[in-house]
Amino acid sequence: MKKIAVFTSGGDAPGMNACIRAVVRTALYYDMEVMGIMRGYEGMIEGDFIELSAPSVGNIIQRGGTILQTARSSKFRTPEGRAEAYQNLIKFGVEGVVAIGGDGTFSGAREFMAEYPQIPFIGIPGTIDNDLYGTDYTLGFDTAINIAVEAIDRIRDTADSHNRLFFVEVMGRDAGFIALNAGIAGGAEAILMPETPTHLDELVKSLEDGKRRKKKSSIVIVSEGEEEGGAFKIAEKVKKQIDFFDIRVVVLGHIQRGGAPSCKDRVLAARMGMAAVEGLRSGAKKVMVGVRHHDIVFTPMEKAIKHHQDINVEMLKMMNILAR
Ligand code: F6P
Repeated sequence: MKKIAVFTSGGDAPGMNACIRAVVRTALYYDMEVMGIMRGYEGMIEGDFIELSAPSVGNIIQRGGTILQTARSSKFRTPEGRAEAYQNLIKFGVEGVVAIGGDGTFSGAREFMAEYPQIPFIGIPGTIDNDLYGTDYTLGFDTAINIAVEAIDRIRDTADSHNRLFFVEVMGRDAGFIALNAGIAGGAEAILMPETPTHLDELVKSLEDGKRRKKKSSIVIVSEGEEEGGAFKIAEKVKKQIDFFDIRVVVLGHIQRGGAPSCKDRVLAARMGMAAVEGLRSGAKKVMVGVRHHDIVFTPMEKAIKHHQDINVEMLKMMNILAR
């Protein structure tokens, strides 16, 4: 394999730049050329390719976002869109592709390879949600939870000073990994997430218990995919049953996706980027690179898309005990 391409797709995640750097420098080490595809599948369809050299990825390891930019492409879901993308890959002489993104990105790659098996894709899990099967951690997750924890600590200061109950909404589309980890690290009184049933009457009861034990403040973490609604809706419902706390709501939103990647995300990016290029060289395709128990592993994309990493419900039990 003499020439590969790399792109980022779906929601950006801290660590994507560090990963692009690793892909480029590993490929160059093996005497391969590397093209960067701008804006994910959109750029692949439009032929928006750029050459990437070793200096072109200098000074990006510490930067959030993605220098290749990203998009969610509806056109790539059509056979016509994929045909245009294929023509461009051939035109630029690309023989293998590294796709950094989430399950939408890998679904696209799977469709593409079913029609054009001659160009192998290898996936790298890049999403703050940490919801992909086949890896213990996705790129950006560690940074996102640390940003969320810092925010929760700040909220705790003001909540305590005013005797307030805060509902803090964190990202995670339909996965509660950010909520669970940031909630435990932030000493939350409750964590509401899509993977576990939510009973608002039980939440009210535990907040009342806390008040009886003279808690000065309470923080409830709400995952955005929570079935009872977002933090605002849930706060409205709880407000009707609680009069001892003044209630406020904070939605952390995209703040969780920006900023410099953590050390852990940079190291993960380096390992996964290098493994992806070495995987392509040794003939791997239709797989996602992951890290399991500290080791690099390859999981069929098919499996990574279909399955969801499981939430450790024991951690939720632990939070309930420690929040007392
Ligand atoms: O998948 C990453 C993610 O940040 C989710 O947690 C969130 O639901 C979604 O992307 C937000 O997407 P957008 O940036 O398009 O609003």
